[in-house]
Amino acid sequence: MEYLKIVTKITICSYEELNSEEKKMIEAAKDAAKKAYAPYSNFQVGAAAFLENGTIITGNNQENVAYPSGLCAERTAVFYANAQYPDQAVQLLAIAAFFKGEFLEMPITPCGACRQVLMETENLFGKPINLLLYGTKKIYKIGSVKELLPLCFGEDLAPFRFNIDG
Ligand code: THU
Repeated sequence: MEYLKIVTKITICSYEELNSEEKKMIEAAKDAAKKAYAPYSNFQVGAAAFLENGTIITGNNQENVAYPSGLCAERTAVFYANAQYPDQAVQLLAIAAFFKGEFLEMPITPCGACRQVLMETENLFGKPINLLLYGTKKIYKIGSVKELLPLCFGEDLAPFRFNIDG
């Protein structure tokens, strides 16, 4: 019998401990959260992506009366970033959530489907995406999507890409 122990590395800090660029990204995510379309859950999430060329792309959750048709903030932001700037790596993604008139005290962490999508973008550019997960009491800084998706499917996408023609 063998065991595999998986460790996730997260730096926990306060807003005051962030540098000005990080604060700017948190504020962008918070602004985006306030603009979310979430009339069914009232859980408004905002995401702000910092691209290699300095562009900041924001997104928020977009819900639908047919529930599964909606999309999370993280995917809205990253899909838009990849659509508009297909050659620009996402260097950092800040996420914030607003519920019942307040931002969450503890950091919002992306859902499984968003982790998979973020992983695709990280792998595509071959550069880690820094995650900044906002909470009013604590902020989580995570160096790579891999920290949130260990043993993931498709970590090395090369075999899929190159086997298309058999
Ligand atoms: N949601 C996000 O946008 N991002 C997350 O990380 C978690 C959940 C959205 C989906 C749905 O519109 C609402 O929050 C409640 O789950």
